[in-house]
Amino acid sequence: MKKIHFDTILSTNAFLKEHHRELADFFLVSTTHQTEGRGRLGRLWNDDRHSALFSILIKNDIPVDLIDRIPLVAITSVHKVLSHYVPRILIKWPNDIIMTEKKLVGVLVESVFEGAALQGVVVGFGINVNNLTFPEDIVVKSTSLAIETERSYDIDALIDEIAKTFQAEFQIWRSGNDDFLKYCNRFSSLVGRSITFYRDNQEYKGKAGLMALDGSLSVSTSEGQIYIRSGEVSLSDNRELPVK
Ligand code: BTN
Repeated sequence: MKKIHFDTILSTNAFLKEHHRELADFFLVSTTHQTEGRGRLGRLWNDDRHSALFSILIKNDIPVDLIDRIPLVAITSVHKVLSHYVPRILIKWPNDIIMTEKKLVGVLVESVFEGAALQGVVVGFGINVNNLTFPEDIVVKSTSLAIETERSYDIDALIDEIAKTFQAEFQIWRSGNDDFLKYCNRFSSLVGRSITFYRDNQEYKGKAGLMALDGSLSVSTSEGQIYIRSGEVSLSDNRELPVK
């Protein structure tokens, strides 16, 4: 896998989107610091130089109708690697990893189109690794590997391990194996729990079910079973679930 590292960059996702034409399949860009790191739902992704911040460009073998599965393949890969270092981490739909209800990892998948033609997909990973503090607005909902395990990590080695695992998981998926879905549901933080979510600016409550192959989350509501495809859910209860 070819790669490049920048000390500082606007955003690793933005870099790959801009340079996709001249870069190879599975090109990796990492950085120590982003000045305009981006999160899902148009949010910013702040860093303090202690996180693993990287993006991978996928150019080959991506059927447009299956793009929605890529976040789950990516989050499966990160979960498999981080589980070697930290126990009891869970996958929170649609593409976070949490521990003790706090966020450890976020993934941002963006498609690159020219006209109607898909040129590639950029998979961006933000992993709280050696962070010991967080900005006030996110401190209660964020954690890091260092906080959870009281040791520090070699961020470059971790990125390499996750990138290799992601490439392998991607190839397994493309060869026709959808086991990533079972994996995500096995480690789901939401299944069976009461959740609140918004749809068309309206608040809904329901009980979260399993994630589906298309990346959606099934929810039982008073209006029946629905599938939510985007957005964010929050827990209506505070019950800690045992890890399966
Ligand atoms: C989220 O949870 O909202 C997704 C966060 C993704 C952040 C990563 S950091 C590296 C890559 N470059 C970006 O600008 N964003 C992703």
